[in-house]
This record gives sequence, C-alpha cells and structure tokens, in this order.
Amino acid sequence: MEEGKRLTCPVVARTQAAEGHVELILQSRALARAVPGQFAHILTPGVLRRPISFSRIESENDLIGLLFQVVGSGTRWLAERSIGNELDVLGPLGNGFPAPDPMKPWAAVGGGVGVPPLFAAVQKWSHLTGDRPEIIIGARTAGWVVMENDFKELGIEPIVTTDDGSKGQKGNVADPLSLWLDNHNEAQVYACGPIPMLQAVRRLSAGRATTYLALEQRMGCGIGACLACVVPTVGDFGLSYRRVCTDGPVFRGEEMMW
Ligand SMILES: Cc1cc2nc3c(=O)[nH]c(=O)nc-3n(C[C@H](O)[C@H](O)[C@H](O)COP(=O)(O)OP(=O)(O)OC[C@H]3O[C@@H](n4cnc5c(N)ncnc54)[C@H](O)[C@@H]3O)c2cc1C
Ligand code: FES
Repeated sequence: MEEGKRLTCPVVARTQAAEGHVELILQSRALARAVPGQFAHILTPGVLRRPISFSRIESENDLIGLLFQVVGSGTRWLAERSIGNELDVLGPLGNGFPAPDPMKPWAAVGGGVGVPPLFAAVQKWSHLTGDRPEIIIGARTAGWVVMENDFKELGIEPIVTTDDGSKGQKGNVADPLSLWLDNHNEAQVYACGPIPMLQAVRRLSAGRATTYLALEQRMGCGIGACLACVVPTVGDFGLSYRRVCTDGPVFRGEEMMW
C-alpha cells in the first residue's frame, strides 16, 4: 500500500449522487491502490484540507471516487469542480478496514455520507464471503439516500431506512441490524456514519459481532501532527487518546470509549 503522498489528480467524471451530494471520479494510480476506509485529504481554498473517504476504488483503471455532501465552503468548492480540473490531494491516508473473514457472516451499515466507504469495501470484498453481505443504509430523507443503485449493480439489494419514512423502512439502521444480528452468529459488522449511529451499532453488536467503525471526525492536518482529531479509546493499557487520521479512521467497536 502506498501512503500519504501529495498528488495532483484530474477529475475525469462528476455526477449528482443525490440532492446536495456530488461524486467526483479522479484518475490516480497511487490513490487507486488504497484500502477501503482510507481517505483523501483535499486542498480547497483557505488553510485546511478536507478529508473525504474513497467511495469506489478501481485499481484496474486507476480510478477512485469521492462522494460528499455539500455542507460548507470546502465541499461547495469541490462540488463546483468539473472534468479536466485538477485536485491537490494527500493520500491515501489512514488505516482502512481489514478484509472480512470469508467464513463469517458480514453486514455493512452506513448512515448518510458514511455509506461511500462501505460501498468501496463491498465492491472489493463481497465476492470473498460465501453469502452476500447484508447492506443496511440510512438517510434522513429519500433524496439523501446515496449509492443504493451501486449496490444493486453488484447484485445486492440494500435495506434502506429513512428517518422520515419517505423511502424504505421508517426509522434508522438499528432495527434491521438488530434483526440481522438475531439470526447470525459470530458475525462481523462494518459501519460508518454519525456518532449516535455508530454508538447504536456498537451497543447492538457487543458480545455478538466483531465490529469495525469508521469515524468521520473533524480534522486538521490529517497526518498525525496537530492532535485535532484525537478520540478517547480503551485498550490493553487502559485509556489512551488516539488520532483518527493515522490510528484510524477505522477502530474496533470495543476500543471506543462511548
Ligand atoms: C476520515 C473522514 C472521512 C470523511 N468522508 C466523507 C465522505 O466520504 N463524504 C462526506 O460528505 N463527508 C466526509 N467527511 C466529512 C467532510 O470532511 C466534511 O463534511 C467536510 O470537511 C466539510 O467541509 P466544508 O468546508 O464543506 O464545511 P465546514 O464549513 O468546515 O463545515 C460546515 C458544517 O459541517 C460540519 N462538519 C464539518 N466537518 C464535519 C465532520 N467531519 N463531521 C461532522 N460535521 C462536520 C461543521 O460543523 C459545520 O456545521 C469525512 C470526514 C473524515 C474525517
Ligand atoms: S488531524 Fe492532525 S493529528 Fe489528526
């Protein structure tokens, strides 16, 4: 795995992924060697870079995707990029997900813009496990559901939940995950989304599944130097503060001090 290089990457495609959500496809041989769950740190006007996970990784054609919601000035600027523009990117950064154990049932649970790194994981590893992974994706409302069709193109029908019931099951991802865990032993659950969602996934999975949680914490440098991203974790040596950008963004559920 190549890691953390400063790269200039051309935008080769741009799609409107959902209301207020854009996906850019970049060409980069180095980024296309990334592991799902790793991220790119992208220079936008101003001081800070913006971290975005890889939404797809196609190493055979040196392409990667970045799917993001427009929430502020950095993502607005990114959403205005078009084919031929070049981005200044540090990456791939972070640890990424481990490959799933092919002998164990696997569920991927994503909320909002937490779905893209899980799609990259399923795209890379779904053929490894005997049964197709269970995919549960949630959003606030129908217009914000992302990557549903991408999963369908892999031959997997995701369970969709929306907070307002405008698409799929009304509610959040916890109910279908709980049901799935009731019917699967020694499972593995990969998740990414808002902190309350990750807390619910961790709580439901405790003692029943190995859980990997990808955190989308606010960041500064992205390379381990500024400590803006630390989170309290617990391990063999008790409490420790760990950097989401370099020790994560993927942590095992039992490591989190929530
Ligand atoms: C490892 C990692 C991976 C990420 N992957 C994705 C991704 O795949 N797609 C995506 O859409 N976003 C992702 N994010 C979040 C993304 O980095 C932020 O939305 C972005 O930096 C906001 O920049 P901005 O200038 O547009 O908004 P700002 O002006 O910086 O902020 C606008 C609003 O968004 C809030 N905000 C900013 N950053 C975050 C954050 N990290 N978490 C929660 N709220 C935030 C601010 O509090 C503020 O209310 C990821 C973050 C991390 C750390
Ligand atoms: S963002 Fe600077 S140490 Fe993590």
